[in-house]
Amino acid sequence: MATRSAIINVMTKAATKAARGLKRDFGEVEQLQVTPKGPSDFVSAADHRAEAVIKETLRHARPDFGLLMEKSGEHPGKDPRSRFIVDPLDGTTNFLHGLPHFAISIACERDGEIVAGIVFDPIKNELFWAEKGMGAYLNDRRLRVSGRRRLAEALLATGIPFQGHGDRERFLKEIDAAMQATAGVRRYGSAALDLAYVAAGRYDAFWERHLSPWDMAAGVILVREAGGLVSEIEGGDWGIDSASLLVANDKLHRACVTLLSGGGP
Ligand code: IPD
Ligand code: CA
Repeated sequence: MATRSAIINVMTKAATKAARGLKRDFGEVEQLQVTPKGPSDFVSAADHRAEAVIKETLRHARPDFGLLMEKSGEHPGKDPRSRFIVDPLDGTTNFLHGLPHFAISIACERDGEIVAGIVFDPIKNELFWAEKGMGAYLNDRRLRVSGRRRLAEALLATGIPFQGHGDRERFLKEIDAAMQATAGVRRYGSAALDLAYVAAGRYDAFWERHLSPWDMAAGVILVREAGGLVSEIEGGDWGIDSASLLVANDKLHRACVTLLSGGGP
């Protein structure tokens, strides 16, 4: 059985506490679909509540660490070298529509490098976790990216720009290229889980532009520790503030860069 370090345990505790509330609220959301405005205010409150629980739990365990949180932003800590990066509910639109595919994402950054991360899907009870140099795991099972070598057999995931967000023209070129060259493209609506699924070998690659640090931080270390490669879409080095992200298994990464940068399969 994989031994989880103290930092993984701290992040897991925060996520499992918040998950209890999210699961209860998700049950309510299904009842609220029939109202004209839908459950949007309720979901926004659920999101904030989850963030507050995570903040309190992390602060209690590591009082000196800084925090970067989706809802409340940056909270500097006494220790300027360490911070948690938190998305309390990734897949908010799914949650709002009663689709059971969302997650809590928490990463730990030290000296500007992600050193540990967890992505927890409370509905499927799947805890993806990874620590630098220690590997990536799903619950107690070691993860490894897929071994596929041919784009024609590969399943890709992405995020589709919506309502004035992102670059529609550029995305249409990317998806057109992917449609012609691969076995399929999925858009499940949670970037954190998309990354975890690449780490687990369920997808062979994932790309998206204009993500925020909390969407990417934990998932990126999962992919790296599972043996995958992480870059910007055009192949440049990825950093927490990068405007694009491409992750893939080690055999297909170069081909995905070429494909999505306009170079064909
Ligand atoms: C969103 C999800 C989605 C991605 C969006 C993100 P949220 O996060 O990760 O898959 O396409 O860009 O903003 O809003 O559900 O936390
Ligand atoms: Ca998110």
